[in-house]
Amino acid sequence: MTSCKLAGPGVLTGTVHPPGDKSISHRALMISALAEGESSYSRFLEAADCLHTMTALQALGVDIKNTPGTGLVTVRGVGMNGLKAPEKELYLGNSGTSMRLLLGVLAGQRFECQLTGDESLSTRPMRRVTQPLKQMGAQIKGSDQANYAPLTIRGGKLKGISFDNHLASAQVKSAILFAGMYADGKTRVVEPVTSRDHTERFLEAAGVDILREAGWVEIGRVDRLTALGGAIPGDISSAAFFIAGAAVIVGSELTVKDVCLNPTRTGLLNVLRRMGAHITTEITQEAPEPMGNIYVVGRRLKGTRIAKEEVPSLIDELPILMTAMAAAEGESLITGADELRVKETDRIHSMSQNLNAIGGCVEELPDGCLIRGVSEFRPGKVDSFGDHRTAMSMAIASRLIKGELEITGTACIGTSYPRFFKDFEDLQK
Ligand code: S3P
Repeated sequence: MTSCKLAGPGVLTGTVHPPGDKSISHRALMISALAEGESSYSRFLEAADCLHTMTALQALGVDIKNTPGTGLVTVRGVGMNGLKAPEKELYLGNSGTSMRLLLGVLAGQRFECQLTGDESLSTRPMRRVTQPLKQMGAQIKGSDQANYAPLTIRGGKLKGISFDNHLASAQVKSAILFAGMYADGKTRVVEPVTSRDHTERFLEAAGVDILREAGWVEIGRVDRLTALGGAIPGDISSAAFFIAGAAVIVGSELTVKDVCLNPTRTGLLNVLRRMGAHITTEITQEAPEPMGNIYVVGRRLKGTRIAKEEVPSLIDELPILMTAMAAAEGESLITGADELRVKETDRIHSMSQNLNAIGGCVEELPDGCLIRGVSEFRPGKVDSFGDHRTAMSMAIASRLIKGELEITGTACIGTSYPRFFKDFEDLQK
């Protein structure tokens, strides 16, 4: 358990190249593992979560080479039916994406395997994935009707279903689409709002026919995936800490280079602009994923509201948005965000507690929070609650404090952004 002491106040100025996108890195490994031929990627996210997906696929018989520190990864695909039963359970650490998406892949395999995780992952709800996969024909066991890891899954003959993804969860959607590649008939996922669509884009690029309309996506049986490769765009969810920080700290001037600008992921920018932020973007690549640069100039921001429909496009950015809202003028209201309570920690609680500990004014609601902006935060001590995004959000808050902020439990930052403190320091020069 590490901790750090950060001294403020100060601006966030300079250029950041955020690490490779976490969601896309997971999918690059899984889809390439099932493809035919070799796929090589650069800017692969070498953070604990994606490395858990990598070791799990290696244990399933996939040859994956990564030279640590380079971001280069090469996956030799085994084809749709080439995975092998692992010798022992697959340990997935803190990574919900690894567990949920791999369940979808494993639902199509004719062997049994057990998935385990750390303390936090073992308390996160899995029935949202295991229930539809069971309906498709997979056998899955775990406590509380296969809601919690350890989970044992035996895949087999699957049939397509039409599933109402009322949570608008991309993890659930992706798991079902992966299983749908092994199912007889069509598999359809219906969503109230389109969640991040990296899986659909990736599978399309690998040659899969996917039907997509506003509100649903459909896939049929897949015999073959083509190998892919290329540079993984930067993660807007990691860049978000600096983007929101720079937007709300007057005097900051930030450039973010080569970041994923997929519209299912850019809700953060829309909200900050509504708050009065000065943000411009420049698209440098359209496909397979939109990518580009973001420019931010700091200003005093004003409060705004975020409701349910917008949440999927900024779900991981809510902790840092709460920080920006706590330092903005006037009131902000977040509703329809109950999913935040079942992330790596209960983020409504962790962020409210932490912001209030440094002089913020945040009231928890069952599905969000009410925030009254304050003109400055005060020195103090906060905790990560074992959650990487809570820890990084509080590190950014330190730039708004005249004095010192101690953050305990910062080791968890390695799950998504091992280089965070280095990039953070570079923006303080
Ligand atoms: C992810 C989807 C989101 C997000 C998570 C990564 C993904 O979760 O919070 O960090 O890669 O599909 P949900 O799909 O459960 O909302």
